[in-house]
Amino acid sequence: MIGPEKKPANLMDVIKSRRSVRKYADAVVGPDEVELLARVAREGVRALGTGSPFFLFVFDPEAKRRLSRAIFSGWFGKVNPWILFTRASGYIVACGRPDRAAIVGDKYLYLAETAMVMELVVLAAAELGLGTCWLGGFGEEGVKKALGLDDQTRVVAVSPLGRPPEKIRAGWLDYVARNLVSKRRVDLGKIVSVVNKK
Ligand SMILES: Cc1cc2nc3c(=O)[nH]c(=O)nc-3n(C[C@H](O)[C@H](O)[C@H](O)COP(=O)(O)O)c2cc1C
Repeated sequence: MIGPEKKPANLMDVIKSRRSVRKYADAVVGPDEVELLARVAREGVRALGTGSPFFLFVFDPEAKRRLSRAIFSGWFGKVNPWILFTRASGYIVACGRPDRAAIVGDKYLYLAETAMVMELVVLAAAELGLGTCWLGGFGEEGVKKALGLDDQTRVVAVSPLGRPPEKIRAGWLDYVARNLVSKRRVDLGKIVSVVNKK
């Protein structure tokens, strides 16, 4: 059994304490918390000035049901069967407009821009003690249809949003993910090089 975790105190604490949450407590996310996350998204978008990323926060029960089924649709969605059963208070849907962001060679910057803002929102949620789970595996066409998004829009990431449970029991997917993935640390030298003047 893991938990409960204490509230993070600074940015490094937030980064280290954030974990993917796939099972949620029943408590809802409050309007003040949603407002703060929306403002974080706005700050991120403002830093870019492109108007490409935009975010949907979905709390309506019927829209949530449609969305969870749409996430599971298609080949990629099938990696996340748990999404059909999770009881998250809401969802964050991170969208980008490729036509409003630069393309540098073969790099489509709408992906980087949207991901950058999404991670700010994810960390802000962690600071509030809320849980998220970044989803790359979802049926994009289904999600777009479920939310009435137009052809110009790409859905870059989706995440449930809610209160983590008090305890994470052995056997839950989150328990396994934490022990197999989250606890692993690669050597700093393998992922970061500091280039200094001689
Ligand atoms: C780009 C991206 C896509 C991901 N897609 C999924 C996904 O489709 N399903 C899922 O359960 N977790 C997904 N994750 C979460 C990872 O599995 C998770 O980050 C990893 O298990 C490490 O655990 P932690 O986030 O608790 O540290 C994704 C994470 C990232 C960054």
